[in-house]
Amino acid sequence: MAVIAQKCPHIQVNVVDINAQRISEWNEPDTNNIPIYEPGLSAIVAEARGRNLHFSTAIDKAIDQADMIFISVNTSTKTYGVGKGMAADLKYIERCARQIAEVAKDDKIVVEKSTLPVRTAQAIKNILDNTGNGVNFQVLSNPEFLAEGTAVADLENPDRVLIGGDIDTEQGREAIQALVEIYAHWIAQERILTTNVWSSELSKLTANAFLAQRVSSINAMSELCEHTGANVNEVAKAIGMDSRIGPKFLKASVGFGGSCFQKDILNLVYIAKSYGLNEVANYWEQVILMNDHQKHRFARNIVKTLYNTVSEKKITFLGWAFKKDTNDTRESAAIYVADDLLDEQAQIAVFDPKVRPQQMYNDLNYLNTRTEEQNETGLTSYQDPYEACKDAHAIAVLTEWDEFNTYDWQRIYDNMHKPAFVFDGRGILNKNKLEEIGFIMYVIGS
Ligand code: UDX
Repeated sequence: MAVIAQKCPHIQVNVVDINAQRISEWNEPDTNNIPIYEPGLSAIVAEARGRNLHFSTAIDKAIDQADMIFISVNTSTKTYGVGKGMAADLKYIERCARQIAEVAKDDKIVVEKSTLPVRTAQAIKNILDNTGNGVNFQVLSNPEFLAEGTAVADLENPDRVLIGGDIDTEQGREAIQALVEIYAHWIAQERILTTNVWSSELSKLTANAFLAQRVSSINAMSELCEHTGANVNEVAKAIGMDSRIGPKFLKASVGFGGSCFQKDILNLVYIAKSYGLNEVANYWEQVILMNDHQKHRFARNIVKTLYNTVSEKKITFLGWAFKKDTNDTRESAAIYVADDLLDEQAQIAVFDPKVRPQQMYNDLNYLNTRTEEQNETGLTSYQDPYEACKDAHAIAVLTEWDEFNTYDWQRIYDNMHKPAFVFDGRGILNKNKLEEIGFIMYVIGS
């Protein structure tokens, strides 16, 4: 919404939420303190906020005034009832649809921005039409393909924008066109795709499934590389030069995280199962199983290498976020690796340049695998990487923050227990340099 407001100064953009605390954080006078860390975002908010970008809790008023409403609520995996652990939880979507229906006194275009199961637009349309005030609603699907950490660049220059709508009716086509015109302010027409609404909904799940599948594929190869003496980076380079495969998204890692990949694949699996398509469901579920395996395997390897016991040993995590340049930790591999090592009674020390300590505890507590007190005793967060690494038996790199390569590794080595181990789960450190210093290096996939 911030980017739309920046690119279209003539459009008034109101961002509303029931969470007053969150809204007040977005209204922080110093835009460097907005609640999401994303390169370039605070400058955009600084430019547009107060002009045509507004954050408030006045939801009904905003609905009443709007011509177009983007529903952007979370659709996390259900934690209860039918589809528990797989299906998307649509309760917030339904609440939004009901509130829009109740308040709207004139025609509205309602845009699904949240990632949703196929055919949700139909459910939204039913609620709007059957509980509304007799006004006309058009429902569009406009999935978001940005990646965190590069969100602003992805929004400014997207590979494509996808808009699904009711292409069979005049009103549907007009609604699609209204949204096309917004994006056309900065995106070339040929990059704006229009489809029927179900294709649009399914394309988002499919894109994430394919991307995650690439990571699981290269991670599967990383384990094979470790056993055969091949190097996964060399393999990735060799296959990536095949133009049919392409070089991107072939970086072996300790496992993918983030709010989307796992949730969307589980959702896809659930949808396939609900149509009785068990082979399709099992095929995609394997991407998740491989990812879980990679995280556990990394933790097991640390224990095994440290002479089969990490009990009371300090193990330092460099990075807690699910990838660099974000403070988002959702589904981060670090959480699961920490959980496994805490089971082995390790003392976990964490340094992450952007993640707050409380977030780390929240992430662990959410797993419900031990008490909050046990998590607080087991994990300590540091503000300084050198302090975090002091007296550690091993360092594990969980996030690929660039700054890790700029550290004084000699100083880190001098202050660690010997032998000093580094488990590079991201393949970002200079292995030769660190080995020269004296570290014993494990690099994922080599
Ligand atoms: C993803 C999709 O890329 C984006 O299009 C969609 O809108 C939302 O989901 P995001 O989760 O923000 O975006 O990050 P992404 O860059 O895709 O990375 C996801 C995870 O995969 C991260 O943990 C990342 O470290 C990992 N990854 C990615 C790898 O391990 N190796 C790779 O080669 C690429």
